[in-house]
Amino acid sequence: MKKHKLTLSLLEFNSIDELNDDDRTLLLKAKEAAQNAYAPYSKFKVGAAVRLANGMIIIGNNQENAVYPVGLCAERVALFSAQAQYPDQPVVALAVTAIGSDNKVSQPVPPCGSCRQAMVEAESRHKKPLRVIMQGEEGPIIISEKMDNLMPLTFAEDFLSRYTDFE
Ligand code: THU
Repeated sequence: MKKHKLTLSLLEFNSIDELNDDDRTLLLKAKEAAQNAYAPYSKFKVGAAVRLANGMIIIGNNQENAVYPVGLCAERVALFSAQAQYPDQPVVALAVTAIGSDNKVSQPVPPCGSCRQAMVEAESRHKKPLRVIMQGEEGPIIISEKMDNLMPLTFAEDFLSRYTDFE
């Protein structure tokens, strides 16, 4: 038996003022987007913003539905919209934040597993590391510089292509 210990690294900042201009702008766009979320069921409004290699920013927010599983998270709304409009532009960063209804969100908002898988696909599709910036309404900001930090042992295209004849 072998035990493998994996290391991951995350950056933590105390305030948005400590971020570089690109990260701060992206996080502010995500905060703006959160206000327009459609979240009548959970009342948890999530906002996301995606930066493309050409500098464009595309926003998304959670879109809920009376049939609960039909709804989609803010991150995937932003990511899919960005890739639908600019399929050849690598996605270089994604910021995510949320607004609570009862209490202020004071911790970084962690993307769900499905969104992480979608982000891994964006990274493997464009062969570029995806930077993820997370914050609540207040409190610390966590930055992951590549998806490996948020989702190790990934199932991605390079794994699949090893065992199938797809190119
Ligand atoms: N949600 C997101 O949009 N992104 C996340 O990272 C976590 C959860 C949404 C889904 C649902 O509309 C609400 O937040 C509560 O789960």
